Amino acid sequence: MPAIVIVGAQWGDEGKGKVVDYLAASFDYSARYGGGHNAGHTVIFDGHRFVLQLIPCGILRPGKRAVIGAGVVVDPAALVAEVDTLAQAGIDVTGRLFVSNRAHVIFPYHRQIEKAAEAARGAAKIGTTSRGIGPSYEDKMARRGLRMCDLLDSATFPAKLAETFKEKDAISRGAFGQSLDSAGLASQYAALAERLRAYVTDTAVLLNAALDEGRSVLLEAAQGTMLDIDHGTYPYVTSSSCTAGGACTGLGIAPQRIDGVVGVTKAYTTRVGSGPFPTEMPDLEAKELRDRGKEYGAVTGRPRRCGWLDLVMLRYAVMINGINSLVVTKLDVFDTQPEIQVCTGYRYKGTPLREMPAQVEMFEHITPEYKTLRGWCAPTSSLHEGQGLPAAASDYLKFISDQLQVEIGMISTGPERDATFVPPGTQLAAWLAEAVRH
Ligand code: GDP
Ligand code: IMO
Ligand code: MG
Repeated sequence: MPAIVIVGAQWGDEGKGKVVDYLAASFDYSARYGGGHNAGHTVIFDGHRFVLQLIPCGILRPGKRAVIGAGVVVDPAALVAEVDTLAQAGIDVTGRLFVSNRAHVIFPYHRQIEKAAEAARGAAKIGTTSRGIGPSYEDKMARRGLRMCDLLDSATFPAKLAETFKEKDAISRGAFGQSLDSAGLASQYAALAERLRAYVTDTAVLLNAALDEGRSVLLEAAQGTMLDIDHGTYPYVTSSSCTAGGACTGLGIAPQRIDGVVGVTKAYTTRVGSGPFPTEMPDLEAKELRDRGKEYGAVTGRPRRCGWLDLVMLRYAVMINGINSLVVTKLDVFDTQPEIQVCTGYRYKGTPLREMPAQVEMFEHITPEYKTLRGWCAPTSSLHEGQGLPAAASDYLKFISDQLQVEIGMISTGPERDATFVPPGTQLAAWLAEAVRH
């Protein structure tokens, strides 16, 4: 049965939540492999709107199972709040949600440190989501982090927390001149531990057993390729492995278990936070697109920066992730656009550049080369089948596919679940059929 990765091909917010929700009808499991509640994955159906931050979107499908893997950093309060919000909407996660005992825990002092670190950077701030994600991954890599298994061990947890806190507080006072707050922390986290105990397990064992039994699994990325800690626009990135490789490390499943990779891109590009963005539009144009596409952060409400589709970046994303099939979302946002620009190449100080620069300063000297395609100036938002697409919209998709040498496996023309179609004969259609058959 297929196990496929759903990965963001840009700077996040590509519509991964919608794609996972659509596919999850046919898959047994969905599993998050990285990031934390910096993510915001929106799913809209039957008049309901959910923004899931930690729990994989498959949970919204009755009877389906959802896994939060070891690569995720978990804020227990955020997770409990999400479980409660779902319960209020009549969605019971009992027996369907599994959280890794190896996932690292976010504490309030992580947020405090992040705030101080961002302030210290001044104009060079990353523009983070202020959720404590980076400092929590720092602790993980420094081997001083506390994990879900530590949180649940009431005999040893208070001492471990006190020890870790002492070190963090000293670092914060030294680096930022700020003491950290630990009032009531141990008891607050002891209570959260009890709320979460039933969900915590060895999720690598669970997922590998599910795959052995022939279950189908969607591996849900958070963020996007260009925010990846190794391959993104460093240092303007997040602190985790958002690319497809992160699915193996973040969930404890081997590469040969994975059948393929689905990349998700918008019909244009957006970015939240600071950092390079070669195809960014001038303010007025960006505002128009932002309003049409409702481009405001699902988590922080920040306006997203907007720009044209960047095929240099997507080509890079195809390579880094091994994308077999590309989903294009938000095609409808171009429904009134007379002409569409697509970036087909970069020039660095006037010379053609084939590779994505490693050094962030290089982006300041990059000029995108554009090809102009005609728009379709017709509504696509109510379409549920590929045949109804205006010719210029099909041309736009074909241009993307030809340039990247990757199929377009799914097209999304509206935020709702049913404004989605999968062209027949694609690899993605085949995976779906295989998952449904079983
Ligand atoms: P994710 O983080 O990749 O899951 O994406 P987000 O949920 O943060 O942002 C995507 C936004 O676009 C959400 O508000 C979705 O409801 C919306 N969306 C997704 N697909 C489409 C589409 O095809 N058309 C339109 N107009 N909106 C879409
Ligand atoms: P989803 O899963 C878009 C961005 C932040 C900031 C940088 C670092 O919804 O696509 P962090 O808080 O992670 O340390 O911030 O990464 N960022 C995202 N941008 N979508 C996301 O997630 C993001 N998660 C983090 O805006 O620039
Ligand atoms: Mg998002």
